[in-house]
Amino acid sequence: MKILVTGGAGYIGSHTVVELLDNNYEVVIVDNLCNSKEESLHRIKRITKKDFTFEKIDLLNGAALDRFFQQNKFEAVIHFAGLKAVGESVKLPLKYYENNVTATIQLCQLMQKYNIKNLVFSSSATVYGDPQQVPIKEDFPRSATNPYGRTKLIIEDILQDLYRSDQEWNIILLRYFNPIGAHPSGLIGEDPNGIPNNLMPFISQVAIGKLPELSIYGNDYPTPDGTGIRDYIHVVDLAKGHVCALQKLKDKSGLQVFNLGTGQGYSVLDIVKAFKKATGVDIPYKIVGRRPGDIARCYADAGKAARILKWQAKFGLEQMCKHTWNWQKKNPKGYDHPNERN
Ligand code: NAD
Ligand code: UFG
Repeated sequence: MKILVTGGAGYIGSHTVVELLDNNYEVVIVDNLCNSKEESLHRIKRITKKDFTFEKIDLLNGAALDRFFQQNKFEAVIHFAGLKAVGESVKLPLKYYENNVTATIQLCQLMQKYNIKNLVFSSSATVYGDPQQVPIKEDFPRSATNPYGRTKLIIEDILQDLYRSDQEWNIILLRYFNPIGAHPSGLIGEDPNGIPNNLMPFISQVAIGKLPELSIYGNDYPTPDGTGIRDYIHVVDLAKGHVCALQKLKDKSGLQVFNLGTGQGYSVLDIVKAFKKATGVDIPYKIVGRRPGDIARCYADAGKAARILKWQAKFGLEQMCKHTWNWQKKNPKGYDHPNERN
């Protein structure tokens, strides 16, 4: 079975392509490389010893994408491509609505034109806003607190409407919790541009000495140690969830929504301690004020994915930290300076 992966050069996309190739899927990738490097694609080939088609295409370029659909036959699409920086989305909302929402509409129009009606979409736990309860179930109310989150809400709604209009579509919305870690080989991992916004890439850059110390955003949340609690999930587990979703699409059961998380919440201080325990590296930190828009607690009820997708996260926090550190040490400058020792 051949799969189109949009955004396949990115963090989650590259790990998913590895799992797809390992499971004997054929893969074609489109990515405009606006937040990734082509080197990640070479690394995927080194890990899997398999080949795939890649074209540098912006999803907003309808003509180029149409040509790609004409020239490549595939049965399903996993749609990762999108912009994801919350802060940037507040400053540049139109860029986010265009790149995430408009591009998804254009992609779906072409899928309709070429009669490819199987789609897995990257949604996010951000659609739960500030949840009233944890663990979070898929039927909890949704809301958005920033334009990035709103793009996910809008796309989810568009895909619901699309399915209602034509029940030949098979659509799975995967709501990811907080992906961290890297492939155990250390060949692919997260390579953020500039100073990382997210906790784990920030910690690993402190560990390697690129950044002096971690700022912990608030220790006055109503949590046991006062710092924010999240559901961190190993990116390889998350990637495997996509293979299970593709299997599920074959059942033709309409539009379905799944949380992909571990079901376990850890605080920021838990992560700092776990990183030290797993790697031996101390992370100096200071407590600063809360980051606007952050919430106290967010972790999944992962039961639905276990029951219906037959998927469960396997890696624990220690491996998430070890694999992050392995990737960071082997690639201190990310993909920019390929390290031949790899
Ligand atoms: P990423 O930035 O590493 O990957 C996204 C890829 O899409 C990049 O390679 C980028 O170059 C490409 N892209 C962006 N806009 C494009 C366009 N118009 N045309 C073609 N390619 C384009 O991000 P990621 O962490 O791998 O996230 C993948 C998806 O998962 C995104 O949709 C993101 O919103 C979603 N998600 C991520 C997280 C997270 O914490 N990483 C959490 C929840 C959901
Ligand atoms: N944090 C710090 N210091 C930092 C970075 C983060 O203390 O330098 C804290 C945050 O306050 C939060 C926790 O670490 O308590 C996790 O923060 P991240 O920025 O890593 O992740 P978020 O949960 O804020 O958001 C991420 C993505 C969102 C996505 C969400 C759920 O950035 O886009 O996970 O998937 F929607």
